[in-house]
Amino acid sequence: MQIVILKDAQEVARYGADIFTTQLQRKAESVLGLATGSTPVALYQELITRNKAGLINFSEASTFNLDEYLGLNGEHPQSYRYFMNEQLFNHINIDKDRTHVPPGDAKNPVVACQEYEAKIAAAGGVDIQLLGIGRNGHIGFNEPSSGLTSRTRVKTLTKATIDDNARFFTADEYQPHLSITMGIGTILDAKKVVLLATGKNKAEAVKAMVEGPLTAACPASALQLHRDAVIVVDLDAASALNDLEFYQHIEAENQKLQAYLASL
Ligand code: F6R
Repeated sequence: MQIVILKDAQEVARYGADIFTTQLQRKAESVLGLATGSTPVALYQELITRNKAGLINFSEASTFNLDEYLGLNGEHPQSYRYFMNEQLFNHINIDKDRTHVPPGDAKNPVVACQEYEAKIAAAGGVDIQLLGIGRNGHIGFNEPSSGLTSRTRVKTLTKATIDDNARFFTADEYQPHLSITMGIGTILDAKKVVLLATGKNKAEAVKAMVEGPLTAACPASALQLHRDAVIVVDLDAASALNDLEFYQHIEAENQKLQAYLASL
């Protein structure tokens, strides 16, 4: 894992946006795996700004989101489809027909999960997958105890996740307890994975992911198996790491290597 420790959430967003910009400049028809939640919002704003400035082009890209609440259709303001339209897709030059979010209103959700996997495969697989991390170490809606090779499927949310996400729902609004989520195996199939984490409330989850054992008790620890996983965190989210200075040292050396390679 490449651990990148930056000052604050804004720097994390910019670093993430740089990775996506480079990816789209190298391959205009990239398949992007996207996430919802609070963490990627600043990154999406940065991508919108760059798109409007002509620095990044989404016209040939396609996207697959990690997850969706089961029981909400895309018009529901709390659905992840609605979130993606509002936070990103409505503001960039992407063809909406090439944006995919698991169908929360599928009549047969089990078949819908298989179809979602088939669509990802037909698109050639995900080139770069964006992730956030739950306080309990979840990625997507793969809650603790999720199989480390799991595929897209229906998952029950933990009470912790329901409580964390209750802030998006009004008191009288129905909050789903089930989701469709890419599996951990699906996520690990992406050619590159970029996980962003900001804020003190993520510090323990980041520590478990980076320094803890590989375990289904912390689904994000599965990223230890990925050959190109970049973990981008601010100082608050990095604050529980034991080897902070070592990670900063490696990253400084890595920058030097990249600069040398670019000069060849
Ligand atoms: C969202 C998702 C979740 C979030 C995680 C962190 O699509 O898959 O795993 O990334 O719950 O959410 P925030 O960023 O709101 O702290």
